[in-house]
Amino acid sequence: MFNIKKNVSPENADLFNRFVLFTSDRQIAILFKDKDSQPFAVRKSGPLTGIKTEYQNHHMARALLGDKVPDIWGFEASTDKASFYLEYVPERLLSNVIAESFIYKKKIFFKEILLILDFYISVFNCFLENRPSFPPSDKEKDMVKMSSEIISHPFASKIKSQLNQIVIKAEKIKKPYMVQHGDFCIRNILFGHNKKKILIDWEDMNISAFPLVDYMMLFMSIQEIFQQLFHMNPAQLFKVPELKKKAAEVKSAILSMLCIDNEMFNTLAVLSTAVLCHQNLEKKRDATAQLIFKELEKQIGNVSDIIL
Ligand SMILES: Nc1ncnc2c1ncn2[C@@H]1O[C@H](COP(=O)(O)OP(=O)(O)O)[C@@H](O)[C@H]1O
Ligand SMILES: [Mg+2]
Repeated sequence: MFNIKKNVSPENADLFNRFVLFTSDRQIAILFKDKDSQPFAVRKSGPLTGIKTEYQNHHMARALLGDKVPDIWGFEASTDKASFYLEYVPERLLSNVIAESFIYKKKIFFKEILLILDFYISVFNCFLENRPSFPPSDKEKDMVKMSSEIISHPFASKIKSQLNQIVIKAEKIKKPYMVQHGDFCIRNILFGHNKKKILIDWEDMNISAFPLVDYMMLFMSIQEIFQQLFHMNPAQLFKVPELKKKAAEVKSAILSMLCIDNEMFNTLAVLSTAVLCHQNLEKKRDATAQLIFKELEKQIGNVSDIIL
């Protein structure tokens, strides 16, 4: 078999044909070997510090999750820019999978969401098993700091006092921390061979985060894509019996794996959502941050029944 690793390196990358796409602050080059119709590698480039962290995170993720993460091949850096190289995963996003079918689209969507939720639980399990065994670190303090900083943001004006109460209460109790991907959204889950799910984009990985950061992101992004694809009220989605049942299973799996009660779950859900707001504001993704603030408002308005 052709050894790809031997054949892509920063020195020879220019020899390959490429198709380049730009995302917000990254450049993604999809690399092809001569005459091949299928790409074989992806190069992600951007500012040195961000890319370096993402490269290191990706390594860690690969060590934790094996082939649920694309293989990682090389790294190159100049004074201010850097790139790393990844195995190309035949790119099929959930929306492409849906678009490929003319009929039963919604059924396919529901089926895929069930599989994505199973995938999420398997990743959660692995993150939990590999949680760092050290006492509270700066990273943990950062998490509390991040969620409390959100209180003073103008977007949070409507929920300021309730959020403040939750943060003050949460500061006094011991909270679980574990590894989180940090941006566990539908767009970052690729469908590889046999629809095997592969998680990409490890920029926001945190080894010591609130355990519901990924959960909140995933459920928000599932509802968002449901709305985009089918123009339906996202609140309808988890009323579908199979999905409702699966979502309840996911929640109870988390409660039992973390050994926490419903109240702690709700507190962590609010704090995790606040962290996601913070993360998006820091990256100047204001539109996304605003959507997440809306979710936070909903949660706070209904603290006893936070999500699902
Ligand atoms: N390993 C990969 N295989 C195939 N496509 C990829 C791979 N990595 C990234 N992509 C494509 O590039 C897009 C952006 O990559 P991502 O790492 O999510 O960057 P961003 O940080 O800009 O969101 C993805 O949505 C996907 O379409
Ligand atoms: Mg992405």
